[in-house]
Amino acid sequence: MSEQAPAVADTDGIERIAAGYRRFAEVEAATASPLYARLAIAVAEDEELLRFLSGLPTGKRQPNLLFAAVRYLHGTPAGPAELRGAVLEEPDRLRATVLARATQTNEAARCTALLPFLGLIEGPLALIEVGASAGLCLYPDRYSYDYDGRPVGPPSPVHLTCTTTGAVPVPAALPEVTARIGIDLDPLDPADDADRAWLQALIWPGSAAEERRARLDAAATIAAREPVRMLAGHLLDRLPEAVGLVSTGSSAVVFHTALLPYVPLAQRKAFVELVRELPVRWIAQEGPGALPEVEAQLPDADEARGRFVLSLDGRPVAWTAPHGGRIDWFAGGWETIGR
Ligand SMILES: C[S@@+](CC[C@H](N)C(=O)[O-])C[C@H]1O[C@@H](n2cnc3c(N)ncnc32)[C@H](O)[C@@H]1O
Repeated sequence: MSEQAPAVADTDGIERIAAGYRRFAEVEAATASPLYARLAIAVAEDEELLRFLSGLPTGKRQPNLLFAAVRYLHGTPAGPAELRGAVLEEPDRLRATVLARATQTNEAARCTALLPFLGLIEGPLALIEVGASAGLCLYPDRYSYDYDGRPVGPPSPVHLTCTTTGAVPVPAALPEVTARIGIDLDPLDPADDADRAWLQALIWPGSAAEERRARLDAAATIAAREPVRMLAGHLLDRLPEAVGLVSTGSSAVVFHTALLPYVPLAQRKAFVELVRELPVRWIAQEGPGALPEVEAQLPDADEARGRFVLSLDGRPVAWTAPHGGRIDWFAGGWETIGR
């Protein structure tokens, strides 16, 4: 598919794109990635770059995707001038990458929020991740952890640290995992160099980038050695089949993180109905608002900004850092949540 920039400028569309980039700079990137914030402001003020973006389909214009595609093809631009050059010198190549790829950030450190549940649900466990990307969150038992100085698991090349507040039920040991099943519209292969390079390009430049890049490499190496069973397709189509693959004697745990913003509301509702009918435990780690029934039970919605909500079977228990590494538990002890 190749879309050309419109011959006549769509002024409304261009204004909307510029506003989106400004918002991204001010709200999302300001602290996490000052470089991305600077680049986004520059895009918002550059008519030619905005015109390039307006020639892309609506779901393909966002800063995350544009900047990752530029970095995938040309490396990280030092500033707005390099970004401009990279976009305008080879627009067709860039357009092809943007159209072929999607924002599929895969962060193994999100396992720090899953582990407390996994350690307490009766095992052994069959893990099913919906929206698994390259499946790097399907190896929680292959990583080592440190919760406020409390170690969990033997040493691993993927070592995850986590700061906690509240009654987080940190397990004493790693769970036994009998199956790892991923579902994704467009799975990435952790053994494929191009897919790994794309995942690396999705990591925002900033103070956490180096650590995240090393973690991604180490987790992808583990995943490449011991591939998950990956079902390509829509979550509504593939989830029953995934659950059907779980052998008797294992508890099926369906989980997802950073998935629901990509799923239209009506499909989200259908997914919640489906997951509730299946014989599974259900862990969600998503932005506030992603699941209205979870949102309605939050203790203080004002605390939501910039955080994810961790829930079990539709019941919120904690705020978490979107890329892992922090849990602020607000529910009672494990007994109040139920095995
Ligand atoms: C941002 S990534 C999150 C990856 C991983 N869960 C993590 O937390 O590191 C979201 C993933 O969901 C997948 N996805 C989006 N909509 C989907 C759908 N309807 N069915 C299956 N997968 C979907 C995307 O392809 C993408 O790989």
